[in-house]
Amino acid sequence: MQIATTLAEARALFDALPRPLGFVPTMGALHAGHVQLLRSAQRGSASVAVSVFVNPLQFGPSEDYAKYPRDLEADRRTLAQAGVDALFAPDTAAMYPPGFTTSVDVGPVGATFEGVVRPHHFRGVATVVAKLLHVVRPDVLYLGQKDAQQTCVLRKMIADLEFPVAVEIVPTIRESDGLAMSSRNAYLSAEQRAEAPSLYRALVAMREALARGASKAEANDIARATLSRLAMPDYFEVVDAESFEPIERPALPAFVIGAAHFGATRLIDNLYVAPDRRETA
Ligand code: PAF
Repeated sequence: MQIATTLAEARALFDALPRPLGFVPTMGALHAGHVQLLRSAQRGSASVAVSVFVNPLQFGPSEDYAKYPRDLEADRRTLAQAGVDALFAPDTAAMYPPGFTTSVDVGPVGATFEGVVRPHHFRGVATVVAKLLHVVRPDVLYLGQKDAQQTCVLRKMIADLEFPVAVEIVPTIRESDGLAMSSRNAYLSAEQRAEAPSLYRALVAMREALARGASKAEANDIARATLSRLAMPDYFEVVDAESFEPIERPALPAFVIGAAHFGATRLIDNLYVAPDRRETA
């Protein structure tokens, strides 16, 4: 696996890779969910590039930027074992040199739910992914469904700004008890980890209640009742899968979404619901 750390090295490296080139942007701390993303990228592309960059622009001042897990050597081994062709691992100065002030704001799709709790988060995500797409110039961008609102934000940016890249959304990978894989699961205590799958169970209960004809308010109550007593619910909603706007019931492709605090750790999860396709994940 070849590694680039500067933008110039990255451009030369990625330009030489066989096409179509699939690209998986990450913040490292790679787990089995990322490996699944890589597998999807490998199935759909002649070569696969990955970035590892903990992007300061997407963290709020009181968030976990400083303590976000970083282990580039372990990530490099995981990527090499998975057969990834090229890794881009820039430092902050390479991505944001002195004087860097531009940002990408996609508007309403990034202003609700996670955008309320984390006001500059999606601007930071859109800005770094825009820059990464200019450097890597992939044919296909692979994103995990786990961060459903992020997928909507990035698809909107790509459509509005005419980035010449296709987007593939890869279904969420779960632990055997249903917990969605996430780098932040590492922050959970043993007790919180045992209760964390209740977020997934709450979403399944909400989806089933809606399918039985319950109102959204009733389905929301059922989700909250299913969530562990140890957790503090933040939101449960049904949103349009394109615009991420709340809807009453999933008549069109939708996400049933939820967020809850398990101690100091805030987890998010979602289920994709298509009228003609009921996902189990
Ligand atoms: O999902 C993530 O890991 C990050 O938000 C991303 C897309 C790599 C941008 O920093």
